Amino acid sequence: MHKRLIYLFPILIHKEEQKFKNMNLLVTGGAGFIGSNFILYWLKRYPEDKIVNLDKLTYAGNIENLKDVEDNKNYKFVKGDICDGELIDDLMKNENIDVVVHFAAESHVDRSILDPAPFIKTNIIGTYTLLEAALKNKIKRFHHVSTDEVFGSLALNSKEKFNENTPYAPRSPYSASKASADHLVRAYYYTYNLPVTISNCSNNFGPYQFPEKLIPLAITNILEGKKVPIYGDGLYVRDWLFVEDHCTAIDLIIHKGKIGETYLIGGMTEDISNINVVRKILKIMGKGEEWIEFVKDRPGHDRKYRIDWSKINKELGWYPKHDFDSALKFTVDWYTKNQDWWKKIKTGEYLDYYKRQYGKK
Ligand code: NAD
Ligand code: TYD
Repeated sequence: MHKRLIYLFPILIHKEEQKFKNMNLLVTGGAGFIGSNFILYWLKRYPEDKIVNLDKLTYAGNIENLKDVEDNKNYKFVKGDICDGELIDDLMKNENIDVVVHFAAESHVDRSILDPAPFIKTNIIGTYTLLEAALKNKIKRFHHVSTDEVFGSLALNSKEKFNENTPYAPRSPYSASKASADHLVRAYYYTYNLPVTISNCSNNFGPYQFPEKLIPLAITNILEGKKVPIYGDGLYVRDWLFVEDHCTAIDLIIHKGKIGETYLIGGMTEDISNINVVRKILKIMGKGEEWIEFVKDRPGHDRKYRIDWSKINKELGWYPKHDFDSALKFTVDWYTKNQDWWKKIKTGEYLDYYKRQYGKK
């Protein structure tokens, strides 16, 4: 009996992998930071697969991120809202979608504090709308991209790490809306057998990140001759991960992850405070401490996130390949070389937001 099971095992694996050969993917939010990095990564690694990128192009979406693939016959961009059920249904049907990779979201905590409404709409109603369409169209895999922020905050001196069994305890409108989405995705698995997987990842950084988030904000401010705003005492800790490592984790989950499972994804740094992240950036850019400006703290600011990524490591063999210092240097160089990309963004709506958030231009 045992012998037979062992014998069958490679055949089962083979079948599972075959199911996902020459896939048609619907990527939501693919003109944002992680989504666009994911599409560039995927088309390079799996040139036979087809990708439809559905994005509303909010302030955070930038079609220029994907100019290298815009003529690729296996890539198609559709401008639209994930809350538009009819559009999604048509896309899934007409494009024969096998796999959904769901990145689209309102993603910035500070904006969720200023105005939660779009977070509730996109992150909760949008996810619900996609799930309904996925069910109706018998999608083979629905991968939901989420965040470690759903687990709330760790104490600064705590040795604890978030893992797949950590109870949800979101504390910002952003994290609460992502937590709601995660619960819905899981509910569609248990109730309707929708084949889902979920990943909760820590803070990403790298090329094409909108310059409202700490690392690109710091780099681009310095390049513009502006100081870097640090909230509160600056002793907040994030579990930084280079964006490409997030893409490889999602790749493994799609190809080898178990249906219904959640995987946590995180970085390899020791606890590093925001102020020390900014000090590293200043050092790379040859600047001193006078470029740091302490500003009013964020309300409900989560003190620390830390991820135990041993499950994805043991089950799927994933680990972060990029060390923090070299990836940070690469990112500083990217923003230094690609000033056209972010200078176009740091105008109009961005300046209005910056004024509301930091009380100045
Ligand atoms: P982003 O803000 O850079 O991009 C979000 C994209 O979604 C944009 O292109 C935007 O136009 C699009 N979008 C927003 N509302 C939409 C709607 N209603 N319909 C269609 N498209 C819409 O975000 P990001 O940093 O790339 O994050 C992507 C995903 O990864 C999010 O779900 C986020 O919660 C999750 N995540 C992000 C991080 C991080 O550090 N950035 C970490 C873990 C998880
Ligand atoms: P952010 O990049 O907004 O990601 P998140 O809030 O999702 O973790 O912020 C990362 C950390 O940097 C967080 O502790 C808040 C802090 N921060 C500042 O100190 N100053 C800033 O101007 C910003 C945008 C963030």
